Amino acid sequence: MSVKVAVVVGSLRKGSYNRAVAEALKELAAPRLALEIVEIGDLPLYNADLDEDPPEPWRRFRQAIAAHRTVLFVTPEYNRSVPAPLKNALDVGSRPYGQSVWNDKPAAIVSASPGLIGGFGANHHLRQSLVFLNMPILQQPEAYLSRIDKAIDVNGRLSDPRTREFLGKFAEAFADWIERVG
Ligand code: FNR
Repeated sequence: MSVKVAVVVGSLRKGSYNRAVAEALKELAAPRLALEIVEIGDLPLYNADLDEDPPEPWRRFRQAIAAHRTVLFVTPEYNRSVPAPLKNALDVGSRPYGQSVWNDKPAAIVSASPGLIGGFGANHHLRQSLVFLNMPILQQPEAYLSRIDKAIDVNGRLSDPRTREFLGKFAEAFADWIERVG
């Protein structure tokens, strides 16, 4: 049976390379992993005052993450860190205090950038938050996809064979590790 994986994409851009990576991973990870993108673009900025009567998008997001066994983050790097919408999604999911939907969910991170270091800074800043959120994180293989713009074709599909092969192996390793950590 497939393991349900919530995919959180750090870019809101329609033509996002990271979204293309996430779409490719959906195909490459099947049938062992069933990847479903959980949208974060409509989440109001986290404000503890709103937690008494949470906005509908917060409720939807929290329920969607809670319904998945694991989480895969696919993100660009903004100013050597995590894009604000992704950090906001982490914060929204982490509250109210003691009811974090992230707690104990195994996670993996893929970062992708047209630049040469493949979003390394975002990848590791994200790791820092996930450690605090008590999410076990896949250590190897690491996935920093550099020059990602060159791997996407005119239809916006991740078609580069080497990148697809790497992501296939990454998905396999993620599935093996999830079986081990339970
Ligand atoms: C960027 N970009 C970028 N790239 C990078 O490798 N390191 C960085 O620190 C940054 N910083 C940054 C800040 C902001 C505000 C923007 C808008 C962009 C470039 C970024 O990698 C590029 O726009 C990607 O195409 C974004 O990913 P998506 O939207 O294609 O998935």
